[in-house]
Amino acid sequence: MTLWFEIIILVFALSGTESLDNGLALTPPMGWMQWERFRCNINCTDDPDNCISERLFKTMADIMVSDGYRDAGYKYVAIDDCWMTSERGPDGKLQPDPVRFPNGMKHLADYIHSKGLKLGIYGDMGTMTCKKYPGSKFYLELDAQTFASWEVDMLKLDCCYAGSLVDVQTGFPAMSQYLNNTGRPILYACCWAACEGLYYKHKPDYKAIAKHCNMWRNYNDLQDAWKYVYAAIDFYGNNTAHFQEVVGPGAWNDPDELIVGDFGLSYDQERVQLGMWCMMASPLFMSVDLRNIRQTSKDLLLNKNLLRIHSDELLVQAYRISKDNLFEVWLRPLRSQYFSDGSFAVAVLRHDDYGMPFPFITTLQGLGMKNKAGYKVTEAFDGKNMGKFLPQDQLRFPVNPTGIFLVTLTPIS
Ligand SMILES: *[C@@H]1O[C@H](CO)[C@@H](O)[C@H](O)[C@H]1NC(C)=O
Ligand SMILES: *[C@@H]1O[C@H](CO)[C@@H](O)[C@H](O)[C@H]1NC(C)=O
Ligand SMILES: *[C@@H]1O[C@H](CO)[C@@H](O)[C@H](O)[C@H]1NC(C)=O
Repeated sequence: MTLWFEIIILVFALSGTESLDNGLALTPPMGWMQWERFRCNINCTDDPDNCISERLFKTMADIMVSDGYRDAGYKYVAIDDCWMTSERGPDGKLQPDPVRFPNGMKHLADYIHSKGLKLGIYGDMGTMTCKKYPGSKFYLELDAQTFASWEVDMLKLDCCYAGSLVDVQTGFPAMSQYLNNTGRPILYACCWAACEGLYYKHKPDYKAIAKHCNMWRNYNDLQDAWKYVYAAIDFYGNNTAHFQEVVGPGAWNDPDELIVGDFGLSYDQERVQLGMWCMMASPLFMSVDLRNIRQTSKDLLLNKNLLRIHSDELLVQAYRISKDNLFEVWLRPLRSQYFSDGSFAVAVLRHDDYGMPFPFITTLQGLGMKNKAGYKVTEAFDGKNMGKFLPQDQLRFPVNPTGIFLVTLTPIS
């Protein structure tokens, strides 16, 4: 494990890839996104409270303000697929469905901005969106201008019906340039790497992607179940593309939306998702019905200790340093006003479902930590001080079935 520790420090020292220079996403962005929870529900006659409509986004925006999400850092309200009419307008422009967005997108953007929030919108660089609404192929420049004219703040660009690998590789950078040309800073969330890797079985060039996009999906869509959450974690843990090397201000790997508060995860599994998304400096986009979220899930999403790890100033994506049948261990170096130089966050995940907490036993030395005077160890979810430990002292972390034990370690001088 000591070797791993040296590699982490080295990779961190060498990182500094050129990232998209639009002044945005200097820390991993946070917000709320429609897709995972509300999908393509367009029937406002049948289901007025949950259909994709101006009303849904205004309602979520209101709650993000009243319930403290905005002030905790969740700033973007992001529309996903199914907001458009099925054809472009006579002028060739995309247009929102007039029944579900009766006042148009500029009106919605104004409303969102009046709440101190930012509006995200969705498009697709292929001939159609994933749900077969008009795609941006041959219209990239016009669509960038249209989004800017509505004063949109973020674009998620998908790549269903892209056509070919070359179209993917040229379409995403082209849109990046067209967005830049509008003069409006627009956070650019790409599905580029995921499409290249999953649809075309091609190894994505992450340095190129980071130069053109603020965040990019690498892997499958998350569905509402533990196996998808763990698969995403395992994907980054396998680290087939040295994901950490391209991460930094303006450039983030995106493991997809948070399903904390939805239907499929146990409380411990929700802790894993939020804890690991924070460890991995991942964008945090909640996709949950904020009107009736469980209090325990809400408390997790607003947990200050976790969010301090998430946006820690070193901005390093955690590394998995070990994995066996029972446990895996992740490490993230930290440094900020909360964590003195030489601090770390350590997450232990447990894979099995044997129904009792099981201790992970280690020494700090075994994790590569050598500060002779030792470390102060703090449980990260509730901020509980676990005491001071020397490098050779034994630590016991009780981990629940498919659960996480997350601590921060600050060196004692
Ligand atoms: C456009 O790109 C230039 C050069 O990278 C950058 O300085 C500028 O801030 C960008 N503008 C916007 C609106 O993204
Ligand atoms: C909504 O559902 C109702 C009843 O199921 C149906 O009659 C109506 O055509 C649907 N409207 C749309 C826009 O799909
Ligand atoms: C990670 O690697 C292991 C071992 O090679 C493999 O079994 C697993 O499927 C990989 N996980 C993902 C999500 O790619």
